[in-house]
Amino acid sequence: MADTVRIGLVGCGKIAEADHIPGYLGTGTCTITALCDIRPERMEAVKRMFPALQDAACFTDSAQLFASGLVDAVTVCTPNDCHAPQTLAACAAGLHVLCEKPMAASLADATAMVEAARRAAVVLQINQTLRYNAQYQTFADLARSGAIGEPFHVRCIRGGNGTPNVGWSPGADWFVQKAHNGGLLLDIGIHMADAMRMVMGDADTVAGLVDTRLTHIDVPDNVSALYRYRNGGTGVLELSWTMPGGAGYLEAYGTAGRLRMGFTAQPIELWQEGKGDQPVSFPELQPRDNSQTVFGAAILGRGRSLTPGEYGRRALALCLAVEASSRIGTFVKVEHFDGEEDI
Ligand SMILES: NC(=O)c1ccc[n+]([C@@H]2O[C@H](COP(=O)([O-])OP(=O)(O)OC[C@H]3O[C@@H](n4cnc5c(N)ncnc54)[C@H](O)[C@@H]3O)[C@@H](O)[C@H]2O)c1
Repeated sequence: MADTVRIGLVGCGKIAEADHIPGYLGTGTCTITALCDIRPERMEAVKRMFPALQDAACFTDSAQLFASGLVDAVTVCTPNDCHAPQTLAACAAGLHVLCEKPMAASLADATAMVEAARRAAVVLQINQTLRYNAQYQTFADLARSGAIGEPFHVRCIRGGNGTPNVGWSPGADWFVQKAHNGGLLLDIGIHMADAMRMVMGDADTVAGLVDTRLTHIDVPDNVSALYRYRNGGTGVLELSWTMPGGAGYLEAYGTAGRLRMGFTAQPIELWQEGKGDQPVSFPELQPRDNSQTVFGAAILGRGRSLTPGEYGRRALALCLAVEASSRIGTFVKVEHFDGEEDI
């Protein structure tokens, strides 16, 4: 393969504009050669915002882009219900895929995607972005390297007062519609359950409570979950789209200390038993490679993805188990994929 990967961007909405386009423009190995959106005005809008996309070909039908011969890989930034069908079609066309989270809304679809990528021998990376974030990576590295002794409890709360179709991408109502696999659990839960897994490893069982408080939406907008991890430890996850004032932090407790971080500008704090009252803070972190850089390197055989399809499927299993538990009212087993590398 040549030294440059030709990328097709499928879905030119908010995350394409905020993360993928700037991410690819900084890689040095990837060039966006084609755009696809069912709304031509979105392709025109991103071309205006990013002059480097001026010459990119435009498609309103993803199947035509996949068959065009203009790209080696695609990045799927469409609403959640498009992820599985578009990824399967792209793999069938022999294209590498960077797919936004959640990769799918069922484990059957996630498994089909993993198998399609294996069959086609292409890279399938899921955009579980916290794995490319220096603060989360440092937090998890500290927790797993013994800085707090044996981690036995993790706690995450992330709440705001509003839904993404109002604040993040105004008018993108699919975020709050079941038919498009919207809802808080697959939108934010998939990130935060994964962040907790970065600290504790795989979970065994979960008890969940999923609520729909906003009467005009038919998807989860408040979620509480209690995880039992394979290491014997526990975890509590609280998520909300209706929390006045909002809240957000991640904490890990171990046999010899505690880690804490907020989700805004506050640094990580490490408090270790026997080392004084004041926690150590980590205000300056080494920047890490972004998701697009890692994807490009994996395609070129210069590294491996931190979040392959198998990995996105594990994050999905952690969320689907919460929903199942809430539905049936008991603890449920989290689906495992034994034999896969624990990444
Ligand atoms: N990794 C993260 O942190 C993160 C953050 C935000 C959003 N996301 C994910 O990114 C995806 C997109 O989110 P967004 O905020 O950009 O949404 P958005 O609604 O702003 O953009 C989606 C775009 O896809 C287009 N589209 C819809 N159906 C299409 C189809 N069949 N083919 C081609 N284009 C189509 C829409 O016209 C729209 O422009 C979602 O899956 C979301 O969960 C991830």
